[in-house]
Amino acid sequence: MAGQLFHVIDTQGFDRPLLDELCELTTRLRGIAKTQEGALALQQLLPHARAMLYFPQPSTRTFLSFNNACHVLGIRTSEIRDPATSSEVKGETFDDSLRTFSSYVDVIVMRTPEAGYAARAAALMDRIPRPVPIINAGSGKDQHPTQALLDVYTLERSFSLRGGIDGKVIGMMGDLKRGRTVRSLCSMMRNYRGVRLIFIAPEPFAMEPDIKAQLARHGIPFTETARLAEALPALDALYVTRMQTEWDTAGESRSMDYGQFSIHPGNLRQLKADAIIMHPLPRGPEIDPAVDNDPRAMYWRQERNGMWMRVAILLKIFRLEDRIFSLASEVLPAGPDPP
Ligand code: NCD
Repeated sequence: MAGQLFHVIDTQGFDRPLLDELCELTTRLRGIAKTQEGALALQQLLPHARAMLYFPQPSTRTFLSFNNACHVLGIRTSEIRDPATSSEVKGETFDDSLRTFSSYVDVIVMRTPEAGYAARAAALMDRIPRPVPIINAGSGKDQHPTQALLDVYTLERSFSLRGGIDGKVIGMMGDLKRGRTVRSLCSMMRNYRGVRLIFIAPEPFAMEPDIKAQLARHGIPFTETARLAEALPALDALYVTRMQTEWDTAGESRSMDYGQFSIHPGNLRQLKADAIIMHPLPRGPEIDPAVDNDPRAMYWRQERNGMWMRVAILLKIFRLEDRIFSLASEVLPAGPDPP
């Protein structure tokens, strides 16, 4: 039996039983949602619950997938995306704003440009009489734990006939220094056996020492290279990221040579036939759209997986996971898992 979830702030607390349970839940509920009867049953699970989506930092996928994940379960949503429309412009503090949200809703999903604000919101909740769970949907350059969960699901599912993530070689390419998705995904890798990581980045955008130290502590081997061509043939998965240009202070991103750090029909043939290409999206020039038609391109499926994994996270927070396992036997005809 996996542990419970309340706040989701970073990757701490995500052990292998919990990750396996979330992946299993995701697959089950996707199957249930395929029929109208199943979709309506899911909507009956949390029609009394309300969620706040607080997204002062830009977002397309994470916002939409959480919004729709809530609706899959019947949860009603409120949102603030532009802080200019909230009392922040009157000088209300972050803590008072968060406490106000908690007066009206049962869960808060938040994305902020600052690192550490989700943790601060969770600490605040733990001091007030009616705490609600905080889900970090991206905090500065630091963490993006729910993206890491959907990435883990995508990897596990893609390798389901080959032993899952265990034993795989995963390349992470791009702006590893300022990309929160790769940082969170690296931390999750401590739960898998025999994984090897290859960081592919120009030196100024190399993975930060804190993550490398964490990997070393957990005995996860990694190497670093600035040459994609050297790494490509060894990879089971290539996780591509964009330059995080919004963090530039003096045009640092201009030094990026995309010729060296992009995937296109020309270098695709160096990748194993059964490898996969992932990207948290949005993409820049680092993946040629011509790659989209290659069966190894997994990023659009990864994006769709995001909504279902977020449904699973909400179910787990509201402690309804057992309902899914019983619903699966009520509304699902016996048969293979959905593709
Ligand atoms: C990522 C993010 O916001 O960190 N996007 C996402 O949530 N899918 C990746 C990025 O913006 O590069």
